[in-house]
Amino acid sequence: MTSLIDDLEADHARFRRYIVWFNEEIGKLAAGGKPDYLLLNLLSTYFAEYPDELHHKKEDIVYTHLADKVRNRRIKLHNLQEQHLEISKRANRFAEIVRLIINDEELPIGEIVEEAASYRDILAAHMSGEEEALFAPARKLLSENDWWEIDRAVGDLYAEEINFDKARSVLAIEKSLDQYDR
Ligand SMILES: [Fe+2]
Ligand SMILES: [Fe+2]
Repeated sequence: MTSLIDDLEADHARFRRYIVWFNEEIGKLAAGGKPDYLLLNLLSTYFAEYPDELHHKKEDIVYTHLADKVRNRRIKLHNLQEQHLEISKRANRFAEIVRLIINDEELPIGEIVEEAASYRDILAAHMSGEEEALFAPARKLLSENDWWEIDRAVGDLYAEEINFDKARSVLAIEKSLDQYDR
């Protein structure tokens, strides 16, 4: 039962697609032009909300089961949760920056571009690291029983932790983004 990994990989593919758009808009800003602020706002809000609410927690569950299983092997992603915190902090900071710009605050372009670039680079490196050190070994090493337990833990996550209003609103953002003419 590795469909959870398929879902997480599909999330990564979507994040990468959105990162391309994000880069294009930040590129306009860096070149002294005017980005599409509506799009930038949708993207930065999406990155501030979707991964925390609907992606990282599932990865943390897979990681917990895998780490248990392969205690004697080296897992490069030993600081996965720390990386998730760092990514979340940066995404929220960037979304705040975009909100300030939209509210006509004068902010130094160089700093905005730098903040965007480091968020993008950290997220990209994190995703590649996960695909190699989490998704691939999870597919290979976890048993049917592990997947059954993971499935149950993800079920509990939906029942107890996921904020449905937040999830609904971020899925609405995803829909708006996918209707974007790109
Ligand atoms: Fe992650
Ligand atoms: Fe991920």
